[in-house]
Amino acid sequence: MSPPAGVTILGSGMFVPDRVLTNFELEKMVDTSDQWIAQRTGIRQRHICAEGDTTASMGAAAAADALSDAGLDPADLDLLICATLTQDMICPATACQIVDRLGAVPCGAMDIAVACSGFVAGLNLAANCVASGMYRNVAVIGAELLSRIIDWEDRGTCILFGDGAAAAIVGATDDPDRRCLFQRMHSDGSRWRELYCPRSEADVPPDGVFNGKLDTLQMNGREVYKFAVTTFQNVIRDAMEATGLTPEDVKMVIPHQSNRRIIDSARQKLGLPEEKVYVNLDRYGNTSAASVGICLHELRQAGRLETGDKVIFVAFGGGLTWASSVWQL
Ligand code: ACO
Repeated sequence: MSPPAGVTILGSGMFVPDRVLTNFELEKMVDTSDQWIAQRTGIRQRHICAEGDTTASMGAAAAADALSDAGLDPADLDLLICATLTQDMICPATACQIVDRLGAVPCGAMDIAVACSGFVAGLNLAANCVASGMYRNVAVIGAELLSRIIDWEDRGTCILFGDGAAAAIVGATDDPDRRCLFQRMHSDGSRWRELYCPRSEADVPPDGVFNGKLDTLQMNGREVYKFAVTTFQNVIRDAMEATGLTPEDVKMVIPHQSNRRIIDSARQKLGLPEEKVYVNLDRYGNTSAASVGICLHELRQAGRLETGDKVIFVAFGGGLTWASSVWQL
């Protein structure tokens, strides 16, 4: 196969469970309040999986939605990338289970584990795969069943996260102007202790936060917050400088949804107007690898993204990791 003229997002989809957990319900579970959560994070509610839901079932539902939006069949997929930190099993990859559920055999399948940076990293990999001419249609999925690894007695973390999934189909186009203009992926592995999920006592670092419960998310919220505020603005600034984009040129910044204050701080420092930075965390909380994809799908559904628009995807997360991806749609 020869490289295509351009690469674009052919379709998008999402899935969230029906069950909504409000801040008011959390007030009855831990020592917190709707007012504290809303003021400190911007979150009002999140969706929580029902018994029987899995990361693969949510990912498959989002992928089926995206395939239908793109007008493609599962058989048209060459590769499926699932970004998640809540794989259903250690083996096989959740992506393989999604291929099975979709009926997309023998499509290539792999998981990527870069926490909340996963959807943006997946877009970057997919863009390169398609631009090389080796793959024509690549599904990027972010799916998370975070409620399974939350300590529901830890008010520092349980208020933040929600379950959900999103998908985008990245594919070839004849229009050379439509492509990924710029991408970066970074990590600072020396700071993995700020956000981790230990399986055994041996995983717990001597100087790290630990609430005593294995298999639950451990987070140094203040440190992650400080890291995120600086990283968010730097990574967006770098992407704009590298592509020569001004705030006027950018149609939309689509950021990972972790905390409204983190997003607002970066937006204000970069001089971006409120309507150019999408926020929906009030309704979903932090869905980790799914969050950027859910934003993308909502924007497309609302008709707020058009061919030729320049958008910046940006995310940060455990690892610590961070990534950006600039597209002319
Ligand atoms: N309700 C009420 N009070 C609370 C709660 C709560 N849910 N949580 C903490 N507090 C208290 C603390 O105990 C503390 O009390 P004290 O002053 O008496 O000690 C006070 O509120 C302030 O605590 P801070 O931790 O300083 O609160 P902060 O303003 O930093 O907000 C938060 C905490 C929301 C966790 C913030 O630090 C944050 O958003 N950090 C980033 C987290 C993040 O983005 N994580 C996801 C990374 S993505 C991934 O890869 C999964």
